[in-house]
Amino acid sequence: MFETLPPLPADPILSLMAAFRKDPNPNKVDLGVGVYRDDDGNTPILACVLAAQQRHNDAETTKSYLDPPGDADFNTAMQRMLFGTADVASTDNRVCSAQTPGGCGALRVAAELVNRAKPGAHIWISDPSWANHVPLLGDAGLTIETYPYFDRESSGLRFDDMMTTLAQVDRGNLVLLHGCCHNPSGVDLDHEQWMAVADLAVERGFTPFIDIAYQGFGTGLEEDAFGVRLMAEKVPELLVASSCSKNFGLYRERVGCLAVVSPNAAAAETVLSQMLNIIRGIYSMPPSHGGAIVKTILNDPTLTRQWQTELEQMRERINGLRDQFTKALGERLGNNRFDFIRRQHGMFSFLGIDHDQIVQLREEFAIYLLDSSRINVAGLNSHNIDYVCDAIVSIR
Ligand code: LMR
Repeated sequence: MFETLPPLPADPILSLMAAFRKDPNPNKVDLGVGVYRDDDGNTPILACVLAAQQRHNDAETTKSYLDPPGDADFNTAMQRMLFGTADVASTDNRVCSAQTPGGCGALRVAAELVNRAKPGAHIWISDPSWANHVPLLGDAGLTIETYPYFDRESSGLRFDDMMTTLAQVDRGNLVLLHGCCHNPSGVDLDHEQWMAVADLAVERGFTPFIDIAYQGFGTGLEEDAFGVRLMAEKVPELLVASSCSKNFGLYRERVGCLAVVSPNAAAAETVLSQMLNIIRGIYSMPPSHGGAIVKTILNDPTLTRQWQTELEQMRERINGLRDQFTKALGERLGNNRFDFIRRQHGMFSFLGIDHDQIVQLREEFAIYLLDSSRINVAGLNSHNIDYVCDAIVSIR
């Protein structure tokens, strides 16, 4: 029967990761997949994760199933991290949440939930957005639309155009926003812009859906939740898909959280019953290990402090690299063409070079970046930054 299926091209991010692995060039540089790296190019397990894992393994007495929503203590801790301690939505029991297999699991369960409430609902995503948003949301039945976001000329935000488009979105449809560290552009909304979008959501009645996969990688753990917390206060309904891949470094453990804010506690209960039914029909219940580690960290003040310090170190390293990279390119070129890199947030920025130059970087220098010119800034380090800058300048 499968002869009816056409072959499909591989995922661009994952296939670039595989091509990099195969490349025998000792000077190769991976600026592709969004994985944090240290100065030696490694992605080590955080010390707080090692400690929490040990503690959890020593105390674990069963491998029996979790429930479909996952671990209740994990969900409570994640809600606190997303919405803060003084959140109105949590205290009114308007939030329900589920531990999911990564941020992807949260996005997919959310999309299925929306599609049950309104089949084929339209969801506006930024242009550009993370490429996997399209299958994760679209394959669940949602209709993908785009709103202007990244301005290729200025490497900044097309905020006025974005607002003009969003002013046409109405009740029963959704707008996907990146909570912080926009993937792929690194361009985030400032506080005033978040407030304007929140006001528009209230006025038009559309439902905001926030994907926050990099909380703590932008300005700070609390600061990066500004948009989530603002929306939770302003709008009656909100979806939040969160990931623990980057900020806890738990990529392969697949742990994330879907939190849905409803207008009241009774509506939240109904939403939860639907969410659990969807989860049961897709993967039954989430894997346990990653959530157990996160829960152990977030419920222990010493481990929490250790995690916050490690997270801050990752963030500061990336911000330091942004400065160094901007400076090194500026010195070589004698202009400020790449100064925008310093102003952007999180792991990603577009270099803004053309396709031939991207191929040249890959083939002549073994420097791997996405075809869109997105780079993972964390892939730079003290051993390769000069090599990368020289290469970029040489293909100018
Ligand atoms: C990325 O954008 O590179 C990461 O989120 C990894 C992925 O799954 O695409």
